[in-house]
Amino acid sequence: MCGIIGYVGAKEAAPIILNGLKRLEYRGYDSAGIAIVQPSGSTDVRKDIGRVAAIDAKLDFLGMKGTIGIGHTRWATHGGVTQNNAHPHISNNGKIVVIHNGIVENYQDIKRRLLDEGFTFYGETDTETIPNLIELEMRGGKDFETAARDAIKQLDGYYAVLAMFDGERKIVASRDGSPLVAGVGAGENFIGSDIPAFLEHTKTVMYIHDKDFVVIDDAGIRFKDLDGRAIERPVHSIDWSLEQAQKGDFDHFMMKEISEQVDTVQKAANQDKETLFAVADAVKKAKGVFLVACGSSYHACLSASYIFSKIANMHVNLVLASEFSNYEHFLTPDTLVIAVSQSGETIDVLDAVRTARRKGSKVMSIVNVMGSSLHRNSDLSLMLNAGPEICVLSTKTYTAQLAVLSLLAYTVAGRYDEGRESLQYLWNVIYNLTAANTRDYIKQLADKLKDKEHVFLIGRGLQYPTALEAALKIKEVSYIHAEGFSGGELKHGTIALIEPGTPAIVFSSADNEKEIISNAMEIKARGGYIIGVNAHSNEVFDFFIKTPEVGLLNPIVQIIPVQILAYQLAVLRGCDPDMPRNLAKSVTVK
Ligand code: F6R
Repeated sequence: MCGIIGYVGAKEAAPIILNGLKRLEYRGYDSAGIAIVQPSGSTDVRKDIGRVAAIDAKLDFLGMKGTIGIGHTRWATHGGVTQNNAHPHISNNGKIVVIHNGIVENYQDIKRRLLDEGFTFYGETDTETIPNLIELEMRGGKDFETAARDAIKQLDGYYAVLAMFDGERKIVASRDGSPLVAGVGAGENFIGSDIPAFLEHTKTVMYIHDKDFVVIDDAGIRFKDLDGRAIERPVHSIDWSLEQAQKGDFDHFMMKEISEQVDTVQKAANQDKETLFAVADAVKKAKGVFLVACGSSYHACLSASYIFSKIANMHVNLVLASEFSNYEHFLTPDTLVIAVSQSGETIDVLDAVRTARRKGSKVMSIVNVMGSSLHRNSDLSLMLNAGPEICVLSTKTYTAQLAVLSLLAYTVAGRYDEGRESLQYLWNVIYNLTAANTRDYIKQLADKLKDKEHVFLIGRGLQYPTALEAALKIKEVSYIHAEGFSGGELKHGTIALIEPGTPAIVFSSADNEKEIISNAMEIKARGGYIIGVNAHSNEVFDFFIKTPEVGLLNPIVQIIPVQILAYQLAVLRGCDPDMPRNLAKSVTVK
């Protein structure tokens, strides 16, 4: 979950790395640090807890001199948030520095060996074993590069690792299960956990595969395997723009990305037709289709399971990626697994894909990040085309997933043109829903709800996944407890929590209005404050948000006002909408 950047070139490394870290903060933001090999040959390491800007103000990253360096933003896994546990980590001899994302699962065995050899440890992280293991390997006379490779070979678990050695103008790197990509510049090269780390410097990238060993120095970027044999990796151009990775006129990425949905839904709908039809064909031919995802992506799949049922008359199995192994005995070579993930790096999704592969099933994906592990490990991929999503919360990629999944269902049903046209019609609708006057109107609701402890959200049919997703948005960014239910479920227990003034957001549509209004009445009878999200108002609503009736595409439009509400609640409650506590953008550890 951590952010990683490395630079080798002719320019001062510190400003480039510092900027990269600021762009990567969405990957983890409890501590950060930079290491730079100075012109004298020794390595300057500065690190602390807190946000990058605050650490910079304290430690003066820009005061670090040298043209090769590495930087890290941390999301703590092993060991608390302390200065000692922050990266980079330094070997006992003070000569090797390492940054790492992931988990070294066998670190206790390695640590025991190192302790036996007389090494000492200053922190509690698994990462600290890596520079010391390299030092141990070097004691036998190996050069740094060979020692680093031999040390990395001994790591079990998931990792993306960068290492440098005092006095050598070289970064060595490897990955297994955690993202890492190299950036090719003119006379300078980059490496990062994510493209935005270096997007302002180059759009030419080389994707690093699991167990590749990469050496970056003044001569360029060289790929090897873990036995040191040279391998070739292709060079790609990416079409993400720097503007997409910047806030522009917005205060936060979250609101910027919510506003972008007017275009991103269209871009998602503008799928490469050949690939879309090939995936649709595979869906039709498969004996069993599984949709597999986590979090918001799972909610998009839940919506899709209803849409496939309604429009394509087809049952698709829906499984949380973290639970997928429980279904593995249903997988055969005729099964199709469609993995849905914004980042393409979510560890549970990648594990599900491995399970499917082991059983010989076909794997296709719906993914935003080109070159991500999921993209590379799929037989076919439909791209979300949403551009980089920087805010930790999924907003524009959630509606892009809904757009792609809906279009796929229409295509499977032989109604591609109708699906495309229905999605095109949403441009106007989303334009109005994200306009300043709508945002101001929703702010009135946020003012009413900002001090509440609980919010309940209900919906039936396609509004049920919307209620789940809306609850996730509110809770993860405003820290107000929010729970989504199917309208019918509330009275099976949770209605006990409704008190006078408890807010309940009620999503409805033409085909389930009567029943859900009855559920709203039940809440109102116990003093609940009812917020309706629907095409037309009802006397039971205390506050009404109008969303036009767009049938199967209602999930795309009805989530938008609640994304805005969640954002407003976060701002009013003094929470950081882009970087909520305890979260990170991609969940690359179990
Ligand atoms: C919530 C959110 C998460 C992600 C989940 C899966 O706003 O962003 O719930 O949806 O971590 O991530 P991806 O889609 O990258 O696999």
